[in-house]
Amino acid sequence: MIEIRELTKIYRMGSVEVRALDGISLEINKGEFVGIMGASGSGKTTLLHMLGLLDQPTSGSIVIDGTDISLLGDYEKTMFRLYKLGYVFQDYALVPDLTVLENVSLSAMLRRDKTQEQTTRDSFEILEKIGLCDRKDHLPRELSGGQQQRVSIARAMVNKPDILFADEPCANLDSENSRMVLDLFREINEGMHQTIVMVSHEDWHKDYFHRIVQLKDGKVISDGVNIRGQDRHTGIDP
Ligand SMILES: Nc1ncnc2c1ncn2[C@@H]1O[C@H](COP(=O)(O)OP(=O)(O)OP(=O)(O)O)[C@@H](O)[C@H]1O
Ligand SMILES: [Mg+2]
Repeated sequence: MIEIRELTKIYRMGSVEVRALDGISLEINKGEFVGIMGASGSGKTTLLHMLGLLDQPTSGSIVIDGTDISLLGDYEKTMFRLYKLGYVFQDYALVPDLTVLENVSLSAMLRRDKTQEQTTRDSFEILEKIGLCDRKDHLPRELSGGQQQRVSIARAMVNKPDILFADEPCANLDSENSRMVLDLFREINEGMHQTIVMVSHEDWHKDYFHRIVQLKDGKVISDGVNIRGQDRHTGIDP
């Protein structure tokens, strides 16, 4: 469970202040597939950065599964990310000189509790799931955008994190590849009860979300169960 209280992020650039998040309070339950939506500049990426421990809030608190993030030191934060969180970026952010298999194995290798055999086994398992085993020795630039994004999802998933964050993961993909990525998210969410928090501004993505949180100017302007996502989830026709 993610508990967010009065989260504020102010970016200061010289004398200019941008209040990117303005007192956000939210609770996200385990197993939810939440869509964060809102216009450009509304604070979606900033919120995800805070939740993914990639940046620090100006004030307010984030508690993830009982751990107050603000109390963690740098090393503990790295470990927390490694063991509990996965993050998918809009631009894939794969390491260009590493192969598909190496990119996926990287975060598994950083974990001290896994043997090399286990790391390799986990990496192959997830590559099989995303259907890219035959591309394991390719470099990212030798793959299509959709394939690269699937590799970055595999990398985020290889440690079986409790929570997956994704910031506009389909922004650079055509609709067919976007659907493939979203179907993969749904499978992960339903099959592994993984919590997924995904930023999007595409209306049709709503079909996948159980709940939609709408941001405007750094504030939550609406938050509710998504009938379209729920209907599909429960198998009831709208
Ligand atoms: N590193 C930064 N320094 C200064 N201002 C920033 C920084 N990052 C974001 N901002 C500002 O904070 C506000 C929120 O930005 P954010 O990137 O969170 O928006 P967003 O909802 O993700 O937008 P988009 O849909 O365009 O990705 C914007 O006004 C932006 O200009
Ligand atoms: Mg953004």
